[in-house]
Amino acid sequence: MERTLAIIKPDAVERRLTGRILERIEAEGFQIRAMRMVRLTKKEAEGFYAVHRGRPFFESLTSFMSSGPAVVLALEAPDAIRRWRDLMGATNPAQAAEGTLRRTFATSIERNATHGSDAPETAAFELAYFFRGVELVEM
Ligand code: CMP
Repeated sequence: MERTLAIIKPDAVERRLTGRILERIEAEGFQIRAMRMVRLTKKEAEGFYAVHRGRPFFESLTSFMSSGPAVVLALEAPDAIRRWRDLMGATNPAQAAEGTLRRTFATSIERNATHGSDAPETAAFELAYFFRGVELVEM
């Protein structure tokens, strides 16, 4: 079993897509181990995306991610990191495959509906950023 950190981003929450995205998560066989709605401060968004500091989109990305509520989740499944990235589709919705969450719901590379960890080390950092061990519910 593997865990990954998923975010339903502020654009999707604002457009009331949370329920439809959660439905896909469960239908695709992920267990939701933890879930919370958060309203990130700019500093918290900068800390989360620290690996992107210095990139041209960093300022805009962290402003967007702190612009409204988001939903953070710990998802568990065999090969969860890759499977959640496959379900999301490519970062840029114009390149995302048919049927993926970003192809269906994203409106731009920044307002791309969802986030997922990209590797085991990133997943460990990102899960710990939002959830204490005790908050990850065992079934
Ligand atoms: P995410 O998977 O959350 O990781 C970093 C985010 O930066 C990415 O999704 C996009 O929403 C955003 N972003 C904005 N512009 C770019 C870009 N040119 N390349 C990659 N990510 C970008």
